[in-house]
Amino acid sequence: MKFALNILCKTTAALLAATLGVQGSSADTSTPKAETVRRIYIEFFKPIPKSDVAPKPDTPIVKLGRALFFDRALSPDRTRSCNDCHDLSRYGTNGDFAIKARDEGKLRRDVPSVYNLGTLKLMGWAGVGTDLRGYTATALTSASESAMPDRDSVVKRLKSIPRYRPLFASAFNDDAITFNRVVDALTAFQRGLVTRAPFDDFLLGNDKALSAAQLRGAVLFDRRNCSACHTGTAIGGQMLQKAGIVRPWPNQKDLGHFEVSKNPAHKMAFRVPPLRNVAKTAPYFHDHSSRSLRRAIRDITLREQGMYLDFDELRLIELFLDSLTGRLPTDYIKPPATASPPTSTSQSTD
Ligand code: HEC
Ligand code: HEC
Repeated sequence: MKFALNILCKTTAALLAATLGVQGSSADTSTPKAETVRRIYIEFFKPIPKSDVAPKPDTPIVKLGRALFFDRALSPDRTRSCNDCHDLSRYGTNGDFAIKARDEGKLRRDVPSVYNLGTLKLMGWAGVGTDLRGYTATALTSASESAMPDRDSVVKRLKSIPRYRPLFASAFNDDAITFNRVVDALTAFQRGLVTRAPFDDFLLGNDKALSAAQLRGAVLFDRRNCSACHTGTAIGGQMLQKAGIVRPWPNQKDLGHFEVSKNPAHKMAFRVPPLRNVAKTAPYFHDHSSRSLRRAIRDITLREQGMYLDFDELRLIELFLDSLTGRLPTDYIKPPATASPPTSTSQSTD
């Protein structure tokens, strides 16, 4: 994780310097030209292209991955599928479940979305790894996710379910069920979870994809330094930053990346979260401490930069963030016939 530490230090210094220059200026009331906004972003935010980047929904390995993603058999007491927490029809997360589990003291960290993970440099709130495949292997046995006791138990469980043999056979040309293949299939399925948004259309040349207010919000997002941390195709997921650079984060129970690295410089360092679909993924922050997006924008700006945004600025930035809400790939995420419907609020995490 050496590179993550480097990024942490560099950006924090640059940001604090930049913050001094922008304190106090209020929202510009004129509507910027589309081309001006495009020029700000096009270097940093590679748009998701129109051509379908997702694999076909019926590719054998994707079919297997989808079956696994929706299967409650992948939890010790068969109560929890990946989809129960990362509900694909709700932008890959599950606010009700997160809030209920938080209130019961059962879920320490908020459930992040599983859409648009392909371009992230860091995974999970604490930035524990750098690749989706590695994280997926962890999710199967992590106590706060699928909680299977170990890799062998995953294989054993699937071997006991007859319908999996043929699915593995068509995905891998022979019917051996191995942990690596389970992870490969889940990863292949997740790589296809992509949501193109109006902001992508805008960057690719459609001036009408953003409203006048969203254009103003886009300029503010850059002027208020949000884009210094929330950068890259997923508008985040590229670096660690201390949560509470200027104003300490109120809840210091979870120390973030420090828990992985044990490096004191990493206390309260969290991954800058990706913001695609953020309007749909409440609650916010690693400790789900905000239920409203507007409040989240207000709090993070104050805590990271010591800066108050006025009512109009908050409104415009919130509108801009909604231009990152993409279309769900409805065919791709259709639950397989064998899946039971999600039990958003009635399940438990023990
Ligand atoms: C009990 C709820 C729960 C279940 C079940 C669950 N997850 Fe998660 N998932 C979480 C939480 C909470 C996190 C964040 C953990 C952290 O950062 O410490 C997470 C993080 C992730 C991430 C990282 C996302 C990102 O933005 O970096 C991926 C990928 C993921 N889970 C995939 C899966 C897969 C695949 C399964 C099924 C095998 C699964 N999860 C099952 C709750 C769950
Ligand atoms: C210094 C880096 C930095 C800057 C600047 C920054 N953020 Fe963030 N942002 C973060 C970090 C780190 C988090 C995660 C905090 C946590 O939960 O631990 C975050 C979280 C968020 C969230 C919550 C996302 C979620 O899924 O929970 C939103 C929304 C957000 N930021 C918007 C903004 C906006 C808008 C701006 C500009 C006004 C901004 N941020 C500026 C680092 C930054």
